[in-house]
Order: sequence, then C-alpha cells, then structure tokens
Amino acid sequence: MDRYAEQTRQKFEGWDEFSARPIDEKLDAFNQNGRIYDIIFAQQFDRAFLDRMCHLADLIRQLARTRAGQFKLRHLLPHKRAMLYFVQPSTRTFLSFHAACHILGLSVSEIRGTSTSSEVKGESAEDTIRTFASYVDMIISRHHEAGFAEKTAWVLNQTHRPVPVLNGGSGPDQHPTQALLDIYTLEREFAHIGGLDDKKIVMVGDLKRGRTVRSLSYLMKNYQGVELFFVAPEVFRMKDDIKEFLDRHGISYAETEDFESVMPMADAIYMTRIQNEYSEDPASEDETFPAFHFKRDHLPKIQAHCALLHPLPRRYEIDVNVDKDPRAAYWRQERNGMWIRAALIAYIFRVEKEIFDEFS
Ligand code: NCD
Repeated sequence: MDRYAEQTRQKFEGWDEFSARPIDEKLDAFNQNGRIYDIIFAQQFDRAFLDRMCHLADLIRQLARTRAGQFKLRHLLPHKRAMLYFVQPSTRTFLSFHAACHILGLSVSEIRGTSTSSEVKGESAEDTIRTFASYVDMIISRHHEAGFAEKTAWVLNQTHRPVPVLNGGSGPDQHPTQALLDIYTLEREFAHIGGLDDKKIVMVGDLKRGRTVRSLSYLMKNYQGVELFFVAPEVFRMKDDIKEFLDRHGISYAETEDFESVMPMADAIYMTRIQNEYSEDPASEDETFPAFHFKRDHLPKIQAHCALLHPLPRRYEIDVNVDKDPRAAYWRQERNGMWIRAALIAYIFRVEKEIFDEFS
C-alpha cells in the first residue's frame, strides 16, 4: 500500500481552502437541516445536545433491561447498514459501536486493516470510503491520520450519495465519541453531587498526543465553573491549541508535574496511556513515567466521591489492585460507551422520538 500511497494521493478542489479554516467555521459543513450529520469534532456538541444524548442513553439502557424492550430497540433500524472501517487498532471503540448497532438492529460490515481492502492495490482512502457509501448508510472510521474523518466526510458531502461519517478516532487529533462517553460517565458518577458543573477534573499522562483528553477538554466549554488540572511530564504537556481554546472560553486550567499535589481536591482523575505509537523518538518508548501512575496507596489520598477514569487500554498507569475500589469508574466507563453510541446512532437516524415515546 505504501508503495502506491504517495503516487495515488490526489488533490480535491476546495479541500485545502476548507481544511485551513478555523474549526468554528467548519462546523456547518457537517450539519444538515439544522442537525449534526457527521460526527467529526468534539466542538460540534453543545450542552443541549450532550444532555439529550445522556438522557437518551439512559432510556436505551433502561429499555434494554427487558426482552420486550430489547425487541423494540432492535426493530428501530433493521433497514440500515453500517460500515466499521477501523484501520488502526481498537477494542472498545470497535466493539461498543458494533454492539450499539446490534442493539438498534442495524447490520454491520467491517474492515479492520487496509491489507484486505483495495487500498492494497493503490486505491486511495477517499475512494475506498466513497465505495462504502455505495453500500451502507453510515460509516464509522478509525484511522492513524489526524483529520482523516474530517476529510472523508467533506469528500462524501460533495457527492450525490453522502452518508454520515462518525469519527472513531483520527490520529492524535480527536476522538469525539470517546469524549461523549466520558461526559456521560462523569455526569453519572456525579449524579448525586450536582453533575459536572463546578467540578475539578485532573487529566494525567500523555496529554500532548492523547486524543481523548484533547476532545474532552473541548467539551468543558459546555459546563459552568469546571477547573482542569493537566498533570504531564514536560515532554507530554497539553498542546497550545487546547490551552488557547480554554483561554478563549474562560475555562480555568493549571499545569503541574506533581500528581500527588492535586489528588486531594480532584472530583475526577482521568488517567491516560503514553501514546508511543506516535513517537518520533524511539528512545522515549521505554520510559514508563511512574510519577504519573495511580497506585493503590494513592486511594486514601483522594476524595470519597472522586471518580477514576481511563479511556483504556491501560498498561501500568493504574494498578490493577485499584479496580476493586468503588471509585474506579473505568469499567463502567467502557460500558457507558456502548449506550451513548447507541444514543448517537438513534439521533443520526432520527428514531429518538420512538424511544422517548416508550416512556411518555
Ligand atoms: C483510546 C484511543 O484509542 O484513543 N482508546 C479508546 O478509544 N478507548 C486511548 C488509548 O489508546 O490510549
């Protein structure tokens, strides 16, 4: 594939100009009839949308508790087909999207690597995606290239047969549906203490290349009085684009390398993995940065209500002996991903009303 990749890369008229625009000016291109059509950036979600998705996810999981409810859900979208194009490794995002499609009755096709698609013959990713649009009604993609989902959605929107594109992770750039499930998790964990407004969120690890913490930081503009604490080794500090965004939206943040100093006041601690698949310096691969791990003896230092999150996969950032503590929310978090992704798909195909009606 690499043999052809550069030769077959063609230029789309208008793309360079579109791609250079600030994100705020791009959002409209991914809407249709006043609704979000493609899910590309976390910046597309406002508070009303986030609250609605969290509520819808709660209703879907409630319905799914009974056989009759599951039957109703499965009959919402049996006429729709989804394509999972995951050419970068994935366990949770792939499986939870797959399960979410099944919950709503969609049929699913999958490509999990370019070696089995015509990309091996030199077909461009854009042509490959356009081909999917000939056969399915929605494309969910994960790709190692930043901006991949954005470009393919933009290309498809210029054609006569666009289908919604959902970004399941685009390089070190964005992971908007992960941010959605992280918000859902935080709202649920804080349900008894007034929700996410006014909370102190500590983000730890590789904040530079961690797309999950980047997308989640964008969403904080939707909540009142949230304070962020970025805890990272010097080499993996949060990038300036996010800090400028937070400054512009008046969201308070602080940076430190002293993890233990911020533990006692955290309402949530969001741990992340060193993303060394993006490393340009192989020497950094071996360093595990133990000062940025959460260990069992940290448990007495955190508040009784503090929620511990991790997008997973975990390596050594959280001691497995922490898992039994009720504040360890990461296994609940991964399951929440399935319900909120089902809510998102219900929104995309406009069957929310049928779900709300079950409760009226
Ligand atoms: C994350 C990802 O792929 O960005 N995983 C996920 O989607 N749950 C985090 C990671 O790989 O570290």
